[in-house]
Amino acid sequence: MKAKITVNNAFAVSKVDPRVYGSFLEHMGRAVYSGIYEPGHDTADGKGFREDVKALVKELGTPIIRYPGGNFLSGYNWEDGIGPVAKRPKRLDLAWKTVETNEVGLHEFIEWCREVGSDVNMAINLGTRGVDAARNIVEYCNHPGGSYWSDLRRENGAEEPFKIKTWCLGNEMDGPWQIGHKTAEEYGRLACEAAKVMKWVDPDIELVVCGSSHAGMSTFAQWEATVLEHTYEHVDYLSLHSYYGNQKNDVKNYLAKSVGMDRFIKSVVAICDYIKAKKKSDKVMNLSFDEWNIWYHSHEKDSKNEPWQQSPPILEDIYNFEDALLLGCLLITLLKNSDRVKIACLAQLVNVIAPIMTEKGGAAWRQATFYPFMQAAKFGHGTVLRHNLESPTYDCDEFKEVPYVESVVIHNEAQNELVVFAVNRSLDEKLDLEVELQGMASKAVTEFTEISGHDVKQINSKDACPIAPKAADSAKIVGGGLTATLLPLSWNTIRIAL
Ligand code: AHR
Repeated sequence: MKAKITVNNAFAVSKVDPRVYGSFLEHMGRAVYSGIYEPGHDTADGKGFREDVKALVKELGTPIIRYPGGNFLSGYNWEDGIGPVAKRPKRLDLAWKTVETNEVGLHEFIEWCREVGSDVNMAINLGTRGVDAARNIVEYCNHPGGSYWSDLRRENGAEEPFKIKTWCLGNEMDGPWQIGHKTAEEYGRLACEAAKVMKWVDPDIELVVCGSSHAGMSTFAQWEATVLEHTYEHVDYLSLHSYYGNQKNDVKNYLAKSVGMDRFIKSVVAICDYIKAKKKSDKVMNLSFDEWNIWYHSHEKDSKNEPWQQSPPILEDIYNFEDALLLGCLLITLLKNSDRVKIACLAQLVNVIAPIMTEKGGAAWRQATFYPFMQAAKFGHGTVLRHNLESPTYDCDEFKEVPYVESVVIHNEAQNELVVFAVNRSLDEKLDLEVELQGMASKAVTEFTEISGHDVKQINSKDACPIAPKAADSAKIVGGGLTATLLPLSWNTIRIAL
């Protein structure tokens, strides 16, 4: 098969906001306890955080981490996680039916984030809490001093404010499973009032308001419209969440699911722009896709969990090669929509539906989905170029005319290079890709790696990590443009010098 991409350096989609490579760490399962934090582990630092996990998080390169939930958030008292650890209460977490010890809280997490080189995307509880707790946590975190909450932060050991920029106004408030679930009217009013006071405390913060939990919610679209009616001028981003799975064990259909993500994003953009028009506003509402990933492997096991355990192993999906390919397609889709998607969080980071797994008292390793994310976060910076794609297509159960190649081209001005991320969705045919460059010419291919040649069910484990990029050699510069052969079922990263 043959496919052709044409790019012109005068035609851009948008600059990539690095926060699109965000991730998410919830107080649930083994994400925090025996994930990032395990006092007594061979690699634990003086505060009990695992150095082996820190190293993998740094390697993954996520620049911002959403915290502390998730469904957990809607019953969480942020004050339980500050002050002397010995005095912190143990609480029942009604979202996941577990016990939270609060050994790790605000200060510990923020310090850990600094060590791994990430910012914090802090979420506030609008399930059981409200406007008062919302303004207090911003004062605690971001006000320099001279007030009750900011002075308490200083007493608790942080003289300087944390300066947290990005904040989420609750989590999945449209879902009946959510503690303190609300109608769109109830949530819209509350989010508006919380947003107002939070920005009165710190006008420099940016706020994400909750959209639907997923596109299949019966309230989808009307929820977004009503919430934005109330909050449009007070918030900066609207959230999207979506998880994918290959329940039908149909690879062609599974790899096409990024087409569904693209439609979801475009529908939400349309709703935002409808409210913009209705309000005659000059403001563009951007999107925070703050929960996205593959989540289905662990469903059956998790349906049998005993309640009220401390950090039980839940949502521990073990990812395989086809998951890595879909993750690549989803990442490309987020990048292609970078004019509106400014924040995205791979949900989650460690142990819970995560690219990084740990064994209690043992190893930490990279799941199959680790490398596509890591390569995108490392090389996918600069300006996404609009691209014209001519590709053969296929039909599958859920989607028609799915291009065999899923691709994005990014002009990294700082490195003077062009980066192509591409997935060949074909099960059995290689694809000869031509990239025609207009307004620029390439000198050389600097790097071409591929992840390919595995059984779709192949996994990585603590003992072996076969799902990893390896050098490929078919990429060539021809007449200033690029040609490369994409192997069947492959994730490809090509960098060319301009
Ligand atoms: O990431 C797992 C869960 O998925 C989150 O807690 C919730 O927000 C979503 O439903």
